[in-house]
Amino acid sequence: CNPVAGQRPESWLQEKVTREVIEGMAEFELDNNTLKKTMVLFLDNIERGLKKETHESSIVKCFPTYVQDLPNGTEKGKFLALDLGGTNFRVLMVELDVGKCDLKSEVYAIPQEFMVGTGVQLFDHIASCLADFTKKQGIQDEKLPLGFTFSFPLVQKGLRSGLLVRWTKGFNIPEVIGTDVVQWLTEAITRRGDVQIDICAVLNDTTGTLMSCAWKNPECRIGLIIGTGHNGCYLETQANAELFDEPDMGSGKVIINLEAAAFGDDGCLDDLRTDIDKQIDNDSINPGKQVYEKLISGMYLGELVRIYTLKFIKNGIIFGGQYVDIFEKKEIFETSYISDIEADPEGSYAKTSETLKILGITDASEQDMINLRFICQAISKRSAYLTAATACVLTRKVNEPKIVIGIDGSVYKYHPYFRDHMMEKMTELIDSDYEFNLMLSEDGSGRGAALVAAMAAMRAKQ
Ligand code: GLC
Repeated sequence: CNPVAGQRPESWLQEKVTREVIEGMAEFELDNNTLKKTMVLFLDNIERGLKKETHESSIVKCFPTYVQDLPNGTEKGKFLALDLGGTNFRVLMVELDVGKCDLKSEVYAIPQEFMVGTGVQLFDHIASCLADFTKKQGIQDEKLPLGFTFSFPLVQKGLRSGLLVRWTKGFNIPEVIGTDVVQWLTEAITRRGDVQIDICAVLNDTTGTLMSCAWKNPECRIGLIIGTGHNGCYLETQANAELFDEPDMGSGKVIINLEAAAFGDDGCLDDLRTDIDKQIDNDSINPGKQVYEKLISGMYLGELVRIYTLKFIKNGIIFGGQYVDIFEKKEIFETSYISDIEADPEGSYAKTSETLKILGITDASEQDMINLRFICQAISKRSAYLTAATACVLTRKVNEPKIVIGIDGSVYKYHPYFRDHMMEKMTELIDSDYEFNLMLSEDGSGRGAALVAAMAAMRAKQ
């Protein structure tokens, strides 16, 4: 996942970048003092989210997930999993055995009109993909337990029920808000009548990530996503999770889904947001919401590069002032291009020129490519540093000498330096007595959903 780790690009790059570009991107530099202040604010937000008295008014909601245990490796059986909430929707079949996890999956598109259409449209589509998948796998007559990874803010009333608080990441179906998404799915499946399913659990992708990493490494206590969206979860002591209202099944712990993306929705991060961050927020379908996510996640990083580049083009600093029309097209610059461009080693611009070709630009100079790379770097580094700040707060919160942080999401997975940037910043920001490591989650949403379903099924039998 980290093909050129160790080769740090900054030193050679900085010397060659045009002065105006360095100056123009300086607002992305967050020094450690600023990051530490952000950490204090973030921790305060978490404390307020956890407490009954302050929860209602808190921005970072810290929802209890009803997952009380981490896996212990003995989980067994065949499960289905649904994964909705990122760029793709997936259906998976997961077979767990001691130390083994076989996974079959299929990706299905969610048509854009279903993301902003009606609840019946979306959930009928999900049910039809599920039916298609079970037929293809020849398991349509088996009644398998299913874990539903639904990566949007949910108030859970138990493991099998989740009321949608709001849509994020480009979805907007108002009638589903405030209702139980498991109910929607159950009804859609019943309407079809050709799928036998036992929905055992609904969970967030962060929980899936934590579970899948903990299955491999028992020191994992934190799950983070840096993909289309950004969020985190961690294992909290039940006594501190004041909203958690289920009997303790023995662990004394519960996973908390922070819904960290909302951090800053009350304006507390306004000093570190740039005018263009604010413009992207205003132009989004949820202005004023998910402020932290809009500084960090894949849904917005490409847009940031596009708008900054456009600004430099208009000032005649990049591409000789050409290609305004290209860079004026919303979302033309995909976030994955940032990873491609930054993956070029020193002195090579192969991937950068390929990327520019996709955009229709074939005559960029070396200087243009250096400048573009610097813009990408400034934007992705800020994202990594803010994520490092989140990770440090959670590491301190978990407060164990050795902690593994499970991470999933396309930005983390494909960016060549994201992990390096996070490790470097965490080392600077955290107290030295914590030993931490970052672990890439493989298929957290699918494997994690199966693990939660397995544990729920085991408990139901007890
Ligand atoms: C958004 C969702 C959150 C999810 C995150 C990562 O922030 O609200 O539930 O975990 O994206 O996918």
